[in-house]
Amino acid sequence: MSRRILVLDTTLRDGEQVPGAKLNLYQKLEIARQLQALQVDIIEAGFPSSSRGDFQAVKEIAQSIKDGPVITALARAVKSDIDAVYESVKHAQRPLIHIVLGTSDIHVDKKLNRSKEDVLKMGVDAVKYARSLLPEVQYSTEDASRTDFEYLWKTIEEVVRAGATMINIPDTVGYAVPEEFGALIGKINYRLKNLNEQVILSVHCHNDLGLATANTLIAVKNGADKVECTINGLGERAGNAALEEVVMGIKIRPDYYGAHTNVATREISKTSKLVSSMTGLDVQVNKALTGENAFAHSSGIHQDGLLKSRDVYEIINPEDVGVESMEMILTARSGRHAFKNAVENLGYRCNDDQDFENLFAKFLELADRKKEVYNHDIYYLMGKYQEEK
Ligand code: KIV
Ligand code: ZN
Repeated sequence: MSRRILVLDTTLRDGEQVPGAKLNLYQKLEIARQLQALQVDIIEAGFPSSSRGDFQAVKEIAQSIKDGPVITALARAVKSDIDAVYESVKHAQRPLIHIVLGTSDIHVDKKLNRSKEDVLKMGVDAVKYARSLLPEVQYSTEDASRTDFEYLWKTIEEVVRAGATMINIPDTVGYAVPEEFGALIGKINYRLKNLNEQVILSVHCHNDLGLATANTLIAVKNGADKVECTINGLGERAGNAALEEVVMGIKIRPDYYGAHTNVATREISKTSKLVSSMTGLDVQVNKALTGENAFAHSSGIHQDGLLKSRDVYEIINPEDVGVESMEMILTARSGRHAFKNAVENLGYRCNDDQDFENLFAKFLELADRKKEVYNHDIYYLMGKYQEEK
């Protein structure tokens, strides 16, 4: 049976931490509306204690995005942060408080500068306080992938007993290796089941070594119920797991993951473009699923194969992510078959072989000059050829 995987989008929180990606209130609301159309399960709208503006943005989003996503925001394990989150999300149809506190020795010793026992107590007290305000509380064990397992488990067990309804395991610095991270999630999942509490197990992976998507997917395979992602993989340093990659990874391989999400994948391209234009951060051209070249085929061998059957070189129907049509970019290496197909797709007929050979020669001249030949170039070529005839 296929498991439903929940998707939390943190573009407006972790994504917005990218230098230069500052969004104004209007832009945050636009993005939140588009995330609603994308049908994500949870929107993490910001970090309200960080500034008045962030508080206001989370509040506006919570008040205006009804029907659908849970609205959450981030708090450190301190009362003032939890109050700020509560005050900003409380008007949402389904509000959630998200608490983060480090668990690795590095965080406990060097950042928090306290004993492990103190840190654990801080976490438990924070969860109890948040639960006195709202029925849904997520607890993130920051830097979990570099944490001693028994301390990590002790933290999870105690915060669950204190009332946490979601446990989020972050690979905060993108340090995890997929095999190892999968095993970690499998072990936590197994122990959580034995606790007999209704808890959602979540993961949050960063991309410092380019493994955020791989680590997120292996976590799903090993029992994670929820994934945290951003659009276009935006986020601190090298970014977070890209929502489009994780969601389509699950969708394309139901045989492997035995899972599905509720994301309206046809909204992916539009969402990616909106986030890119509002943050001013371009998507790299070869970015999986949302890059300009993600569905462009230019080599002759590939174009010829695709014309015989799309599945020869395509595992994803571009329309499934909202890319309307696949334009083949012709080059001098595209070959006669691809050129003829492009000409015919634009409504021209080549009945005469000699005529076609003349045209093809002109196409090769143009392709040598221009390197890449698009539909509008073929229109020009055909018009000129017909004029000269
Ligand atoms: O990367 C991280 O650990 C985080 C937490 C707040 C989940 O962003
Ligand atoms: Zn993060």
